[in-house]
Amino acid sequence: MPQASFVKSSTKLIQCPETQLPEVAFIGRSNVGKSSLINMLCEKKGMAKTSSTPGKTQHINHYLIDEKWHLVDLPGYGYARVSKTERAKFEDFISEYIRGRGNLCCVFVLIDPRIPPQQIDLDFINWLGKNNIPIGIVFTKVDKLKKEAELIANIDAFKAALFQSWESLPELFLTSAEKKTGKGDLWDYINSIVKNG
Ligand code: GTP
Ligand code: MG
Repeated sequence: MPQASFVKSSTKLIQCPETQLPEVAFIGRSNVGKSSLINMLCEKKGMAKTSSTPGKTQHINHYLIDEKWHLVDLPGYGYARVSKTERAKFEDFISEYIRGRGNLCCVFVLIDPRIPPQQIDLDFINWLGKNNIPIGIVFTKVDKLKKEAELIANIDAFKAALFQSWESLPELFLTSAEKKTGKGDLWDYINSIVKNG
């Protein structure tokens, strides 16, 4: 079991912990399951705050793992119920963090595999690519799909959509925070990244 502890909540890059430790961050649409996935990975229920109402995570939250690297829970994008100015402010600090954080080794983009590819996710992934940010794709809540064929079809459609702008695909992971699936593969990958970070 990893040793995980909360470090700090920030709303600006400048407030983030001053450190050279490697860092990986989780992002995705509001309510996609970022905070739940972090709790599942760290085996700490309630460490990252989760909610069935979108927009729960509003800050850049740093967690220290095994005293060696930081895991970061980010606010979700695309939350329709906040005002346009508020959303722009939100997106400003997320993009400032992503582009300006020198020790950021990988951004995992979480995707809901219950629905066909969403433009907002593809735009975000392409923006990360343009900014040369290494990424991984994590499909969440796979337990919610009762029909495996549907899951496969949505994932294939997502891959096809990515191939329109990417020559090779990033690493893909299938997870369920509820059933605790996909944890081993994701840990192995994160460990390999932070070791070389
Ligand atoms: P914001 O911080 O609001 O952007 O949301 P988030 O992406 O951090 O999502 P969060 O982890 O708070 O989860 C949102 C809702 O989805 C909660 O009600 C969770 O219980 C539920 N949820 C998350 N992961 C899973 C999963 O793997 N399976 C199921 N069935 N539900 C999940
Ligand atoms: Mg959250």
